[in-house]
Amino acid sequence: MQEKSEGTFIVFEGIDGTGKSTQIELLARALRRFGHEVVVTREPTEGIYGQKIRELYQKRSTVSPDEELDLFIQDRHEHIDTLIGPSLAAGKIVLCDRYFLSTAAYQGAAGCSPAAIIDRHRFAPAPDLAIIIEASPRTCIRRITEKRGDQLNDFEQLESLKKVDSIFKEMDLPYIERIDGSAAEEEVHRQVLGLIDKLLPHLTLSPPREPQ
Ligand code: TYD
Repeated sequence: MQEKSEGTFIVFEGIDGTGKSTQIELLARALRRFGHEVVVTREPTEGIYGQKIRELYQKRSTVSPDEELDLFIQDRHEHIDTLIGPSLAAGKIVLCDRYFLSTAAYQGAAGCSPAAIIDRHRFAPAPDLAIIIEASPRTCIRRITEKRGDQLNDFEQLESLKKVDSIFKEMDLPYIERIDGSAAEEEVHRQVLGLIDKLLPHLTLSPPREPQ
């Protein structure tokens, strides 16, 4: 297989509480161990639009679904321009916690059309691989409240998470792969590595070769 000249873009998706962030950290560590240059990032970002989005966590009803959608898209534009685009151009591996499939699922659950949302993302580089980590909304809510000790924010209520979950389940795009997130952390990590190895064989998970 031909070596890719540009970087590799892997996104993690799924409802809240599936363990995405843990899996991203485990994958980043594994890839770095094999000498790959890895950028770990997430959406919403810490940028100006991301901060506005975080302010909405406890008062989502103060904006319309369309305004909310616009904020996520503006945040993504900035993210691509400032970090994702340059990192990929520099040949790095970018691991992103949530990307436009989250917008399709969450803002889709809020009343926008998931297909129209995906269509609005023609400006955004498609991921090489989107791993959707699946777990039942009830399990995820339990994890958020018991393990994290957090209150649920307005994006995480059970009924809306069920809708989000069903939109994620309907997605059918060539770069999507699904993993059962109810298994133990190490088992999920093993499956993530299996997907990377299968779909992106150029991303060698073995030590770099010595020059001849
Ligand atoms: P989350 O991954 O929990 O971020 P953090 O832990 O850093 O605050 O995402 C926050 C919430 O935002 C989550 O409930 C999903 C929601 N979200 C959307 O509704 N649309 C989007 O496009 C994205 C990226 C996230």
